[in-house]
Amino acid sequence: MDDGKATGKFKETKIMKRILTGDRPTGKLHLGHYIGSLRNRVRLQEKYECFFIIADLHTLTTKPEKTADLKENIYQMVLDYLSVGIDPQKATIYIQSQIPEVAELAIIFGNLVSTPRLERVPTLKDVMKDAHITIPSYGLLGYPVLQAADILMVRANLVPVGKDQVSHIEVTREIARDFNRLYGERLPVPEVLVPQDLGTLPGTDGSGKMSKSAGNVINLTDSPEEVEKKVMSMYTDPNRIHATDPGKVEGNPVFIYLNAFCTEGDKVQVTSYENQYRQGQVGDIEVKKFLAKILNNFLDPIRKRRAEFEKQPELIEKILKEGTEKARKEAQETLKAVKKAMELDYFSD
Ligand code: TRP
Repeated sequence: MDDGKATGKFKETKIMKRILTGDRPTGKLHLGHYIGSLRNRVRLQEKYECFFIIADLHTLTTKPEKTADLKENIYQMVLDYLSVGIDPQKATIYIQSQIPEVAELAIIFGNLVSTPRLERVPTLKDVMKDAHITIPSYGLLGYPVLQAADILMVRANLVPVGKDQVSHIEVTREIARDFNRLYGERLPVPEVLVPQDLGTLPGTDGSGKMSKSAGNVINLTDSPEEVEKKVMSMYTDPNRIHATDPGKVEGNPVFIYLNAFCTEGDKVQVTSYENQYRQGQVGDIEVKKFLAKILNNFLDPIRKRRAEFEKQPELIEKILKEGTEKARKEAQETLKAVKKAMELDYFSD
């Protein structure tokens, strides 16, 4: 895993830019999360002051009835974070709902954006379609406002998110600018940090994206046997019937996964399989067996770390408590400055 180059000296001598990003705790994380965000976070924590939010309040916007699973989902997600190398010594992991200041900021920010503006946010339609919602709740319409409160609350400079979230960060920027215009320059206007080299990982069924709802995922917690089973039934080149048919490597999920997860040392073998595949000199089964090995080699150290952390539930709770306390201090500072700027500070301390 990337142990990074951050030194105490670097931290003392440079003012680090602040990053906020995070996830809704909807369940276990999979290889798509790893490629799309987790591995980037492991790198970012070396160079920036990182806050990783577990956005449990955001899950209420589509599933207000499903709160009973949140606690377990949060626990599993933190185990996923730690097992891939997110380091609580370097990054602050915290739970959104335990910071009441977020809600207060969201109430204030709700007045700085119009409802048609929120109705135009493209994710709204997609989410409504996926969740079979015909009329959005006030909370769902306000999803980007709550996200703006998350981001501005810690005064983040950079927000690393996937393409689908860019429209939300645009709302955050508009709110910050509007706030600054009305009440004076107080809030940094954050920038999106779209990862360049990460891309999205296709599902095992070859469809656009690995996603839990599509049921085409390999979870970080899958056992070696589960990984092997999923890989052996993976979608490959649909036009290739016999091992002697020339096959297509480009866009073939088996080869996309091989390239994404192989080590430097395996590269020669991957290239060799690519050439053989193109020329109809190797069967799908052989390549898939190789892929299962590559994925299990990749997942083994993650599994080991997870097993270590699983033995220490009190440590997980401590990490979350301390992270939340630290983030809450930032929230309190921001809210105080915000209210002062608005002249809502009526009492002398
Ligand atoms: N909306 C994000 C997602 O679904 C999760 C999230 C909530 C978030 N608050 C955030 C991401 C603040 C970045 C910054 O993926």
